[in-house]
Amino acid sequence: MNPTKHIIEVVPAPTNPDIPVLTFGERVNVEALSELNAIIADLVAQKKFQVIADLTQTNHIDGSVLGVLMGFRGQAVAAKGNLILAGVTPAVEKALHVMGVHKLFDIYPAVYNAVQQFEEAARVETITLAFPSSLDFVPCVRDFISNIASMRGFEGKEAYRIQTIVDEICNNAIEHGSKESDSVINVRCTIDNDKMDLVVEDKGASKDSAEGLRRAVAKVQFTEQGKVSVEKRGRGLPIVAMLADMLEIDTRSGPGTKIHIVKFKKQENEYFTL
Ligand SMILES: Nc1ncnc2c1ncn2[C@@H]1O[C@H](COP(=O)(O)OP(=O)(O)O)[C@@H](O)[C@H]1O
Ligand SMILES: [Mg+2]
Repeated sequence: MNPTKHIIEVVPAPTNPDIPVLTFGERVNVEALSELNAIIADLVAQKKFQVIADLTQTNHIDGSVLGVLMGFRGQAVAAKGNLILAGVTPAVEKALHVMGVHKLFDIYPAVYNAVQQFEEAARVETITLAFPSSLDFVPCVRDFISNIASMRGFEGKEAYRIQTIVDEICNNAIEHGSKESDSVINVRCTIDNDKMDLVVEDKGASKDSAEGLRRAVAKVQFTEQGKVSVEKRGRGLPIVAMLADMLEIDTRSGPGTKIHIVKFKKQENEYFTL
């Protein structure tokens, strides 16, 4: 083995110099392990957790090297980053399948696409909707919002929970809040890579529903960590409180009611992380 010959080069991504690219050589076996571990230690020390492994030239990769990459990927994901594989050759793809980890890694055709993926993940998007206070619109609105959640990487179960939350809150806004048929329900949904933040606002609550709201809020208990627990299981708001990571009910800032919820993205496949 020639000790001066590097098996892995670290270069900045051409279209985004903040993202390091580990460019692997043709054969990556156990001899590359110490070099890889040193590179990873350096990335961790610099808190660089958005990293691309470029495997375009690689025709052989050892399981032990993949194991180290899996470990780093887990660390990166825990730090809200990722290790994305780019340019996976058929030989490397086979190695990933043999180890059963092909679904664990995000894989893109080239470094350029992996950079785009990181840039997309950093996007914060706000969608606002105003719809007439009629139950006819609720199915469209709940599907629209949960589709946005799926599009931004919320898994099926979580997107379904968001659908339920939107359903309950919008039904309430129409049934108990904006009763006038010419009234409008406003929805504001802000989504980033970690969470969805949702506000549903109606234009006016009658006195009797304000009392109902107080009783419903009384059922919802906030723990010291800010998480929500529900005293009694019931319909509507208690269910929303259970499904959301944060629920805030504001009846003071105007004649109507403003419901604010936050739902964090859960990574259900994280058990795979080394
Ligand atoms: N947007 C709202 N405006 C006024 N009152 C509301 C609103 N949302 C909920 N409420 C009050 O809170 C109560 C509890 O709501 P919820 O738990 O969804 O049960 P339900 O809608 O089945 O009555 C409602 O009955 C109503 O009195
Ligand atoms: Mg309800």
